[in-house]
Amino acid sequence: MLLPRIGRVARPWLDPALDLEARVELLLAEMTLDEKVGQTHQVANIDPGQNAEALREGRIGSSLYASGATAGNERDEGVLSSVIDEIQGIADGSRLGIPVLFGRDVIHGHRTVTPIPLGLAASFDPDLVREACTVAAREAVVDGIAWTFAPMVDISEEPRWGRVAESFGEQPVLSGRLAAAAVTGFQGDRPADADRLGACAKHFVGYGLSAGGRDYDTVSVGENTLRNLHLRPFRDAVEAGVLSVMAAFNDVDGTPMHSHRRLLRDVLKGEWGFDGVVVADWNGIGQIVHEGVAADLRDAARLAIEAGVDLDMVSGAYLAHLSDLVRDGVVDEALVDDAVRRVLRMKLRLGLFDPPAERRHDNAPTAGTRDVARRAARAAHVLVRNEGALPLGAEGSVLLTGAFVHEGEALLGTWVLDGRGDEVVSPAAALGERLGDRLTVDDGRFSDRTLQRARVADVTVALLGEHPNRSGEANSVSDLRLPPGQLDLVCSLAGLGKPVVAVVYTGRPLDLTEVLELADAVLVVWHPGVEAGSALADVLTGDVEPTGRLPMTFPLSTGHIPTSTHQRPTGRLIRADVDHQEGRYVDALTYPRLPFGYGLSYTSVEYTAPSLARTEIGDNEMTTLSVTVTNTGDRPCRELVQAYFRDPVAQVTRPLVELFDWAAVDLEPGATGEATFEVAPSLFAYTGPDLTERIDSGEIVLLTGPDAATLQPVSLTVTLGATDRAEARP
Ligand code: NOJ
Repeated sequence: MLLPRIGRVARPWLDPALDLEARVELLLAEMTLDEKVGQTHQVANIDPGQNAEALREGRIGSSLYASGATAGNERDEGVLSSVIDEIQGIADGSRLGIPVLFGRDVIHGHRTVTPIPLGLAASFDPDLVREACTVAAREAVVDGIAWTFAPMVDISEEPRWGRVAESFGEQPVLSGRLAAAAVTGFQGDRPADADRLGACAKHFVGYGLSAGGRDYDTVSVGENTLRNLHLRPFRDAVEAGVLSVMAAFNDVDGTPMHSHRRLLRDVLKGEWGFDGVVVADWNGIGQIVHEGVAADLRDAARLAIEAGVDLDMVSGAYLAHLSDLVRDGVVDEALVDDAVRRVLRMKLRLGLFDPPAERRHDNAPTAGTRDVARRAARAAHVLVRNEGALPLGAEGSVLLTGAFVHEGEALLGTWVLDGRGDEVVSPAAALGERLGDRLTVDDGRFSDRTLQRARVADVTVALLGEHPNRSGEANSVSDLRLPPGQLDLVCSLAGLGKPVVAVVYTGRPLDLTEVLELADAVLVVWHPGVEAGSALADVLTGDVEPTGRLPMTFPLSTGHIPTSTHQRPTGRLIRADVDHQEGRYVDALTYPRLPFGYGLSYTSVEYTAPSLARTEIGDNEMTTLSVTVTNTGDRPCRELVQAYFRDPVAQVTRPLVELFDWAAVDLEPGATGEATFEVAPSLFAYTGPDLTERIDSGEIVLLTGPDAATLQPVSLTVTLGATDRAEARP
């Protein structure tokens, strides 16, 4: 039973002049066990009426606003800042007056919705991601939100998994840099500033490997692979100062992540020194029971607190059982103290104890925020085929067809809780404005009529792809082809002999085999957000050049999964681009349909072979890798020069190619430019068989090119002292 209220106490921890840790300790010292447990309890959709008593008793530390367990698929009523203020008022009247921490999933924009994270990743542009997250934070705080459950940094190489839409793709360096950019975009230098949110790197860890791409499924992976791939972007987010990390729904090799002491307590909190909050995912502690690893909720609470989960999202396990577990001598109170310290530290870091700043009241999209969203949406456009159909000419008639022509809501994508469909610029509206009476719009409801119109148009732009409710949480698919019916339309249009441009809205890599054969141009645009139509019109008309690159490999077919860049060599596999590699499929080729990093512009670019300023480097030495690119066409472009490496002999199998850097080079027609990359031995650090980080002496093959499958090599020799050395990361 909880202790009754015993009146207000002096609150010395409110003194901002004190050191943050001192404030935490002052407060902790004042707390009863039950009040401590209250800080580890998060409820959904806290209500000032229903939850008033619990608040006054200090039994609720945090609340999230979400429609339910899979909130990204359902709209809710939004957050009312006045309700949040009322709740803080009630919390302030509790014995210790600890404010409530409010979280909400602000995933890719709040009111001004930018592309889904996978689309943002296609920009390869950390500055743009930072800017987009800054806008999102500024809008979300207006509604009283202090904390977002983003960025999602799960390495995603399994396109059947619906949640790849929420990720930055398959590659750890890209994912890690964008994760760090998102963290600084949300949090700024000082998360307590009035226009900032706390961020949360999720889902820790391995969720992207869920079996068969089925959401929430089990994960079989060793710690070496986790360290060399999946943990890396989390590490980058932690180094960028992320205030919280969310545990994943999956198990790892038999241990549910919500009870994974080794990865949470030893690696994240121990080895990496993370001093922020580990929050459970929705009922993640309760699910340890479903996973058959805890007998009941009490047992689950014990496992989770021992493992290092600090804040229980909605399961109620901690509130119901933690105090008794301590009193019964089963759980050491020091573990509860550790969790509470982290929650209080986060609240202090977010400035929740400070007098509230004057809040703005309006967060509707403005010209300025729409400009960010439009640049982000343009940058998400990846041109994957063009046989001269794009950009659209200055003359001639254009038919715009397909289910998305008048769409708003569906172009926002998954995980949009506060954006509004009626604020989206639709493709029909934007192209209508640009093309005037050259444009005919047809929603594709009656295919005969569509084909009649296509027959008389000079070019048809067909809007294809997935509705957002086909991607995101709990929305996995077993077949990566377009949804039923759409290919028929493409076949019929192609049969007319007129140019066809296919625009693909999607939350995942699809099997675009037939579309790539039938259409004259194909643009993959993901779900682009509130400026979807304007960005599409910009790119189709050539006002803006397409610059996006694929952040995930597109497989040849569903049966080819996995086909990501970080496949490792087998005893037989020497090259990634061999047609019929021994041991692979006898009924199909080996390479992917569209490799990681792929994307065209409206011109052609030629690459020289890369060169090195020095071909040998030792400890504390660097060299420069250079490559020259020439625009050989007649339009300007921004070429994304990519730099990869292969470590031919290491202590464990290493990826066939690993992206380590990239550079955007702007080229006018006929112009030549150079991309340079600094190369130091630390780039080649990896986790060896003994699970420590190391760098080896020996050859490294550096590779440059326009994508992961079109690369030219140059050899570098790394010589480190007398012997190879194990390297601890700073
Ligand atoms: C479940 C999801 O897995 C997670 O990503 C999300 O942040 C929480 N629900 C809260 O809505």
